[in-house]
Formats: sequence, structure tokens, C-alpha cells
Amino acid sequence: MANSIDKAIQDQFKFQLISVEKIPIEVWEDNFEASKHIAHLIADAIKQKQQDFQPIVLGLATGSSPVKVYEELVRMHKEDGLSFSNVYTFNLDEYYPMQPDAVQSYVRFMHEHLFNHIDIPQENIHIPDGTIPMDGVQDYCDFYEQKIESLGGLDIQLLGIGRTGHIGFNEPGSWETSKTRLVRLDNLTREDAREDFTNQDVPYRAITMGIDTIMKAKQIQIMAWGAHKAPVVKIAAEDEVSATIPSSYLQHHDNTIFYIDRTAASELTRFKTPWLVGICNWDDDLITKAVTWLSEKLSKPILKLTNEDYNENNLSDLIIEEASAYQLNIRVFNRLQHTITGWPGGKPNADDSTRPERAKPSKKRVIIFSPHPDDDVISMGGTFIRLVDQGHEVHVAYQTSGNIAVNDHDALRYIEFYNEFAQETMEDSLIADMVEAERSIRHKHIGETDSDTVRKVKGLIRKGEARAGARFCGLKDSNIHFMNLPFYETGKTKKKALSQDDIDLINDLMQEIKPHQVYAAGDLADPHGTHRVCLESIFQSFDQLKNKKWMKDCWLWLYRGAWHEYPIDEIEMAVPISPEELLRKRKAIFMHQSQKDGAPFPGGDAREFWQRAEDRNREAADTFRRLGFAEYEAIEAFRRWKFDWQ
Ligand code: F6R
Repeated sequence: MANSIDKAIQDQFKFQLISVEKIPIEVWEDNFEASKHIAHLIADAIKQKQQDFQPIVLGLATGSSPVKVYEELVRMHKEDGLSFSNVYTFNLDEYYPMQPDAVQSYVRFMHEHLFNHIDIPQENIHIPDGTIPMDGVQDYCDFYEQKIESLGGLDIQLLGIGRTGHIGFNEPGSWETSKTRLVRLDNLTREDAREDFTNQDVPYRAITMGIDTIMKAKQIQIMAWGAHKAPVVKIAAEDEVSATIPSSYLQHHDNTIFYIDRTAASELTRFKTPWLVGICNWDDDLITKAVTWLSEKLSKPILKLTNEDYNENNLSDLIIEEASAYQLNIRVFNRLQHTITGWPGGKPNADDSTRPERAKPSKKRVIIFSPHPDDDVISMGGTFIRLVDQGHEVHVAYQTSGNIAVNDHDALRYIEFYNEFAQETMEDSLIADMVEAERSIRHKHIGETDSDTVRKVKGLIRKGEARAGARFCGLKDSNIHFMNLPFYETGKTKKKALSQDDIDLINDLMQEIKPHQVYAAGDLADPHGTHRVCLESIFQSFDQLKNKKWMKDCWLWLYRGAWHEYPIDEIEMAVPISPEELLRKRKAIFMHQSQKDGAPFPGGDAREFWQRAEDRNREAADTFRRLGFAEYEAIEAFRRWKFDWQ
């Protein structure tokens, strides 16, 4: 349903008085629905031109943002008869140098995601050529521009936005008048691309359409999905136009729409601090958000905020509604205080009316779902240890094998060990397997997918590490479950779609344990990644099992992945971690040796996983301290997910 979220946004305002957004923005609950909407707009434009016997020229993007748009266009071609026979396409960019058949090539990307599945004439497809010799690049770029112009210019341009604020590969510093050219990639862009370039260098350069080329498009649709895009979306849409954020030039285009999901919208003023742009419908959540914001802004603990502080910072409405700062401060302070508990499984025989968890049953059955084999200890290792120490029946379930995130040199070490050991003890067929695995790693080409045996070895490496980590937290082996969800097993960063086979595996474990508490990685922020799919598998399992009697007592707690924590006002359970527990947590993370000292997928952050976890847990504790609560060494935070049947 178009724009379903706009109503929810409007609900938080009595009146929105001003808008600080300078590009029209549509916020969608779900990027899947938004992508379908965009695909339908494109399809309508194609059909309109067909009726007029005219061609249409589309500017296309690669990356994760448009993938679902292409999926829907392919579906419409196959099921609804949408034809692309009158379509010309020009892609924004290509790495340089780049062979068209390389796995990272945008030529290959476009064919795999779109062109191979539709009836577009091959000669209508244009993608910058990453094989042109350096001395011919400028002429080639000029020709690319002329070709677009000769077809009447771009009718619709599809864009993603990079974390640097780039569109195409127009990095910070790009001029508004820039045309198609060879550019240098920003360091952050290269970091973000590292996942696609396992074991090899990300190119330093690319050929990209210029800002001017893009701005001449008659219509521009730009997309951003996920919390990692939220800061740049805000700057591009709300701040002044500047070459340091090239996407901000779109403020000068009179037919652009920015499609974003709720998480990418989270930094926009109308979401983050709606009281600065309107008169709000205050509820407890919004009040808590406003009071913690004020406290942080003024560097004053909550209980020291005065009427004047509220009045001077656009929050006088709150004082009118609550009578005084004193009462308001106490109310919000108590709410936050009640989230803090050293008893994540509930405190036995205690009054639980203001505690995050139920006192009964005093010994709970718990499943910790971990998308990769180390998320359990990285994200909630301290709470994991506490739950075990406090006598709950804790199970951990590793949802995927995590096999693609093992370096070849680590796998080779194990294979050589096995090989040499096997030579003395094993059957010939096993030896042959291992000899083949060793050969395939030694002769692996850049970007090539691992053989089945190598993937198996890599999966086993992570399995052994996960077992060691869980044992270190005090778990017995029978409570450690490896699910190997099938959607993950492609050997590539691109995974299969979630299927009932995946959900059945979750259902089976849920039915076996009948948990009172389930912990899951709640990374709604990452719309494409493994965490998001793993969470979806749990949501679907809860939905399928909801009529079971024991499900009425089953609570779902979400933790966040390695990179970011819940904002303080969204935390519903804050578990303090002592210095000794933090050290134990660190040692549990150390068990994941293949992820130390240069993991294949560090995710744009030079710190090791244990450092990120500690920094984040210490920062959460410090936030509570700054707001005026007790000073803890570290805190792990959780949010309860409530289903509408609960
Ligand atoms: C891709 C392109 C880039 C991406 C941007 C966002 O052709 O030109 O500007 O659109 O880097 O990438 P994703 O969508 O992967 O976040």
C-alpha cells in the first residue's frame, strides 16, 4: 500500500508546522513494498511510451538498493507480459579496471539481476566499459554522453546513495557540472565494497556518469534502505547543497523523489526530534525520547532539567501537559530505571510489576538464536553468561554455517593438518577429497566460489569455534544446536530466498524446547543481510506456532548486531555487565579465531569484533551514567518484540 507509513508519521504530530526537507521524501514501512511501487512506476512509463510507439531511456543503478526493483520488473515481464522491447538503458557506472565477466562487474550484475530475464534487445543496453585502455577513456566517456543525448536524454534515472553521499560514483568534491568520466573512489566506498572483493583489492577507480548527466534526467527516483543510510539521507535532504555531499545536488532537481524505509528515515528531523518542526501528540515513548534528547543536548542529568530548559528547547508543550519539569523528570527517570536489571531471566520471588522480565517460572527455558556462529557472544555474551550462571536452561542455536567468512589460509591450515593426519590413518577416498580441497584452494581464482568440500571445512571451522565459545559461557554440548539454514548455502555473498525448509528447522527447535524466552538478532536496520533474513525466519516461525499453548508464555527479546546499539529511549531491558563478566565475554569472542586479525567481512570498521562489542557496551553504560543513573562498567541492551496476538 502506497505510503502506508505516512499516516503513522502524521500520528505523532498534532500539526506539522514546518518541513526542513528539501527533496520530496516518501517513507515506507517496508523496502520490499517500496521497491514494488518503484518498479510499477517504471513499468507504467514503459507502457505509456509503448502506446505512443516511442522508446524510453532508463538510467540504471547497481548495488543492493535496486535489487528488489529489478526482481519485480522481471516478475512483471514473466507473469504480466511487460515487454522491454522499446527500452534503452544506461548504467551509472562500472569499476575501472574491470572485466565484464568478473563477479564484481556491474555488467555481470545487471545481466544476472535483470537483462538475462527480460526481452530487452542486447544492443539497447549500455554499461560503462571497464576494459577500455586508459588513453581511450576520455573519448569513451564523451561518446557515452553523446549516446544518451542522441536518444533524447534519460527519461527516468534510478539511484542509490552511498554512505559518502555519492550518487553514481560521484564522490565528495564532484562538481554539479561534471559529466561521464573516470573518478577515484572514496575510501569509505571502497570499504563498503570490500565484501564483494574477498581476498582481493577493491579497485581505486571507476567510470561514472557525472552529476550533470544525472541531473538532466526528466525524473529521478533515489532509494535508501537501512539505518546505515540514515545519516547521509538527512544531510542530503535537509542540509545546504554542497559538493561534499553530491546527492544534495538533487535538491536542485524539480522531479526527484526519495524513497526510503523507516530505518533510513530515523535521522530525519520529523522522526528524530519532531518537536522541532511541529506540535506533537505526546505519548510515553515520545516523551522519553524528548527528555533523553534534552538531557544529552544540555549535558545535564534528567533529574536536573528545569522548566526553563524545556521552554527554551521547543518542549514547553511537555511542561503544559505535565505541570512541571520535576514531575516529568521523575516519570521518565523511573521508566528508564526500570529497564535496568541484573536478572535477564527474571528475578525469582521478586515483585516483577516494574521489571522487564517475569519472575515466574524462576528457571526459564531460553533459546539464543545467533545468525552467524559468533553473534551470540559478540552481541549478548554478558547476558548469555548471566542466564547460565543464574540457572536457566539455556540453548544456543547457530542459524547459519558462516562458512563464507573464513579466510582461505585458515581453511588451508586445517586441510593440511587433516591431510597429513589422514595419510597415516584414513581411507583413500577421504584422502582424495582433502587432496582435491587443498588443490582447489591453492588454484582458486580471484572471486571464485569455494568447492563443496572447502565450504564444508570452513563451516566446520566455525562450528568448532562456536562450540568452544558456547562451552566457555557454560553450556553443555547437548544445548548447542547447529541449524545450517539452507538459504545461506550458496557459497557467495548473495543468498537464496528464505523458504519453508528454513522455517521448519526453526519450528522444530522451538517445539522441542518450548522456550519462555527467545533472543534473536534484531537488525531490522540491514534490509538485505543475513541477520535480517534470520530474523524473518524467527518472525515467521512465531507466526506459524502462535496457536500452541506454550507460545503464550514465549517472549521474544531482540539484540542488535556488532555495530550499533538501540537508542536509549528504545531500550526495554538493560543488563549491566561487571568488569569480570566483560573479560569473560571477551574470552568467549576470542574462541572465534577465524574472525580475528582480519576477518573476511569486517563491515567497514577496522576494530576487531571484541573491541566493537566492548566499545558499544561501555558507551551504553556511559549514556545511562550521563543521564544520571548508576555508573556501570558496561551494559547490553534489548528490546522486546510484541506480536499483535500477545
Ligand atoms: C551503483 C552506484 C552507487 C550505489 C550506492 C549505494 O551503480 O552507482 O552509487 O547506488 O553506492 O549502494 P547500495 O545500494 O549497495 O547501498
